[in-house]
This record gives sequence, C-alpha cells and structure tokens, in this order.
Amino acid sequence: MSDGAPDGRRDELNPIINIEGISKEFQLGDITVAALRGVDLQIFPGNFVSIMGPSGSGKSTLMNILGCLDTPTAGSYRLDGDDVAKMSERRLARVRSQKIGFVFQSFNLLARTSALANVELPLIYNGVSRRQRREKARQALELVDLGDRMDHKPNELSGGQQQRVAIARALVNDPSMILADEPTGNLDTETGTDIMNLFAELNERERITLVLVTHDPEVSEYTRRTIHLRDGLVEDITNSAGYKAMANRAAIPADAAAVPEAIPAA
Ligand SMILES: Nc1ncnc2c1ncn2[C@@H]1O[C@H](COP(=O)(O)OP(=O)(O)O)[C@@H](O)[C@H]1O
Ligand SMILES: [Mg+2]
Repeated sequence: MSDGAPDGRRDELNPIINIEGISKEFQLGDITVAALRGVDLQIFPGNFVSIMGPSGSGKSTLMNILGCLDTPTAGSYRLDGDDVAKMSERRLARVRSQKIGFVFQSFNLLARTSALANVELPLIYNGVSRRQRREKARQALELVDLGDRMDHKPNELSGGQQQRVAIARALVNDPSMILADEPTGNLDTETGTDIMNLFAELNERERITLVLVTHDPEVSEYTRRTIHLRDGLVEDITNSAGYKAMANRAAIPADAAAVPEAIPAA
C-alpha cells in the first residue's frame, strides 16, 4: 500500500521508502516467529506518517528495518532509490548515518555533554569540519527553539527540551527522513503536544519526511496518514482524522490536510 503523496504530487515523486513483500522471521529455538508477513509499503517525500497497531503486531520490527538497524528475511527495500535489503552491515551503517535521523522514546542524549555537542555528534561521524559542525548544530538547535539552551547539559533541561535536542540531533545531517519510536512516550501530555506540534511544523515548513511509531491515537492524529499494522501485515492506511496540529495553529486552512486516497503498491 502507499501512504499517498502529499499535495497530490505522487506521480512526479519517487517514494523515499519502497518496500515490497517484506517478511521477518525470528528463530527461537525450534519455534519460528513471523513478525512481518509480507508488508508492501510506499512512503513519499514530505509525508508525515504514524505506524500504529497492537502490541506484538510488528511495529518495532518494521521500524528497525526502515531504519536499517535490521534486515528482512525476504522482500525488497529501496530507501531513496538504494536497495538496502541485502546490504552489508558496514554499508547499512553508512546509509543510517547519512539518510536517517533517529528520535527515541528515552531521548538517548550523552549525559555529560552540552546540547550543542550532542547535536554535533552525528556530524563527527560524517567527517564534517569542526567549524561547520558548530554552525550546523547551532542552526538545528535554533530550528527547535533551543537557541538559548545550547550550553546546557541534559540534566539541566526539561524532558521536552531534551527531546528537542534529540530532534535537532536527528535533523543536523539533513537526512532523507526522521524515524521516531514512541517519541512522546516519556513525556506528560502537554509536553507531548508541544513535541507533536514541533514535528508537524518541521514537516509543514521544512518539508521533512517523518515516520513515527505510537500506540497513542491522539499522537497519530498529528500525522497526515496512519498505517495500521496487525499480525505482521498492513491492515489499513487511513487519513488522520484531525490533523490536529494544523488546526491548533490555525494558520493553515483545514483542507490543507487533504491527501489522496491510498493506492495499491505498484
Ligand atoms: N528479537 C526477537 N526474537 C524473537 N521474536 C521477536 C523478536 N523481536 C520481535 N519478536 C516477535 O515478533 C513479533 C512482533 O514484535 P514487535 O515488532 O516488537 O511488535 P510491536 O513493536 O508491535 O509490539 C512479536 O511476536 C515478538 O514477540
Ligand atoms: Mg514495539
């Protein structure tokens, strides 16, 4: 199934994520667990997609494959045109660091290190010069509204601010997409709302492609599309009912949320 391209521009765009017939099996002694059982999925640039489903439906397994942290047992995965399903661990690591920004439930920041240095980290792995690192990390922190907290360490920041630092870190490499696994799971409702508004704003204003896993229907309402997983299969893809963030900010007319219906995978 396809996520449907925003703005009806699907025909001109190549999907960032193009998955066909992905399955993933885990071997537990004599037992084979089929975590994914033939998933087809396309996600187009500029979309903002949530993955939902009951516990055990395969959300984390799918996320790990999308993020090149794991490879499928069978099926194809083209990420931004590159066939990543059969890549070596080494090449996958490079794809991860260049094309994907990760945001985790527990922020995963280095504790003894300033916000600025945390955001610079992915750039070190990609061999960016010291001066450019500073500049890019500053810009990313300003984008998440933390320009005045750059020298603070994680324990000098609130949970919401720490997650903003993590989002800046995910953005700093100009990735093709950001993957977030339960990004509001450790935050209170109000702070979670702030973070979802920030994601929606980054998607709307900066055209950043976002895919997030959540078990919370309220959270999925901030996204444009929701992929429903069940028993290792995509059961349905729906337009998100509220597209809440847009309504909250009231700057964008309600019909801006309109996206085309899902099309079958090619
Ligand atoms: N490393 C693993 N080894 C064995 N079974 C696993 C492993 N990871 C996931 N599974 C199984 O695969 C299924 C899907 O798991 P998961 O992707 O974690 O689901 P979700 O994130 O939706 O709760 C579950 O039945 C789970 O027990
Ligand atoms: Mg999970």
